[in-house]
Amino acid sequence: MVPSSTRAVSAGRAAIAWADAQMPVLASIRSRFAREQPLRGLRVAACLHVTAETAGVVRALAQGGAQVALCAANPLATRDEVAAALRRDHAVAVRGARGDDAGAYGDHIDAVAASRPHLVLDDGAELIGALHLARETGGVLGATEETTTGLVRLRALEAQGGLACPVVAVNEARAERSFNDRYGTGQSTVDGILRATNLLLAGQTVVVLGYGWTGRGIAQRARGLGASVVVCEVDPVPALEARMEGYEVMPALEAAARGDVFITVTGGRGALRGEHLERMKDGAVLANAGHFDVEIDLPALRDLAAGPPREVRPLVEQYEIACDPPRRLNLLARGRVVNLAAAEGHPAAVMDVSFALQALVAEHLARTGGDLEPAIHAVPSAIDHEVARLKLASLDVRIDTLDDDQRAYLRTFR
Ligand SMILES: NC(=O)c1ccc[n+]([C@@H]2O[C@H](COP(=O)([O-])OP(=O)(O)OC[C@H]3O[C@@H](n4cnc5c(N)ncnc54)[C@H](O)[C@@H]3O)[C@@H](O)[C@H]2O)c1
Repeated sequence: MVPSSTRAVSAGRAAIAWADAQMPVLASIRSRFAREQPLRGLRVAACLHVTAETAGVVRALAQGGAQVALCAANPLATRDEVAAALRRDHAVAVRGARGDDAGAYGDHIDAVAASRPHLVLDDGAELIGALHLARETGGVLGATEETTTGLVRLRALEAQGGLACPVVAVNEARAERSFNDRYGTGQSTVDGILRATNLLLAGQTVVVLGYGWTGRGIAQRARGLGASVVVCEVDPVPALEARMEGYEVMPALEAAARGDVFITVTGGRGALRGEHLERMKDGAVLANAGHFDVEIDLPALRDLAAGPPREVRPLVEQYEIACDPPRRLNLLARGRVVNLAAAEGHPAAVMDVSFALQALVAEHLARTGGDLEPAIHAVPSAIDHEVARLKLASLDVRIDTLDDDQRAYLRTFR
């Protein structure tokens, strides 16, 4: 456990205040929650990235009357100073420290699962998974899931008939999809790669594997910095969209020999395998923005290497591939989410939307009081609209509304 020294606490407070300034929607929800106490008496367990932005949502829950326990969804993203400030100032039980190994990481999730939560906020479905394994879902009114990978896993559980509590797919809210993944992951992934390598992207070939919501954002930002972007896909529809956007589209095996920087963001495993790695140029950079560190085949990389990697810069491991002449491949952040490990994850202004959705869905789940079926549920559109409306208001943007006549036209069959 991290020491909560006075210096750490004040650094955490400063980080939280900086993030707060970019998160006006969440601030307005926090004030309302403090007045109305919609979560009074409830226990909330959260497995999220322990960052200054997350501090915004856990404080909203705590101020809304909940008792909150928090653990990390990825120990490389944990900001120890934020955890210290949350423990000291806001009575949030935060478990874990930056860089915890797999054993400690799992222990913290199990400990938070054992807090018998009424509401669960998850990012990757590890906490929901732990509650299911421990058969502790009985008192859970509902859960929220923040990421694509978590929802893929939970849908698999639902299909097997094993999902035991309702889960709201926050990740699939319209306000979230069109905003968070594209702009947040897009910018912060490129930011992480640049911080780790200090590369000039202009003139480089960046290969984006997976052209989903996050892949679109990454490709757009890499192109904005002057890179030539190549997209690799397995689904013909996003592949066609990428081509129409003006990117080159080709199989990963062809792209392997072309790219200077490779970014995996598929949500699956093995997007880059041995056969790709052995074709890459000397000096190629490998980064992953997908949720788990399985998108780049790390065992295959180790097998191809002549020896153990050298850490040539912080968060850059260089593998020398045994061939003639030898080639070096640079793996960033050990293949883990690069935007969190090498940068600061999504900017606070983006997390304002995600966490506003989380807070309002938690309130919705508390109101439903356990009436929802154990299934994956969509975010109610009223919540989606409310968050987008509040965000627009914070940006001082006004929009038109339909009048009665226009609404009637849309409701009438002609
Ligand atoms: N780093 C972050 O901050 C962050 C943010 C959001 C999402 N994510 C993660 O990024 C991943 C992708 O999320 P998304 O929302 O873009 O998913 P998505 O389902 O919208 O897109 C994934 C795309 O990858 C394609 N794909 C799958 N396997 C492939 C392969 N082997 N080669 C090439 N393309 C392949 C799919 O056809 C799909 O179009 C998930 O793991 C998600 O959890 C990370």
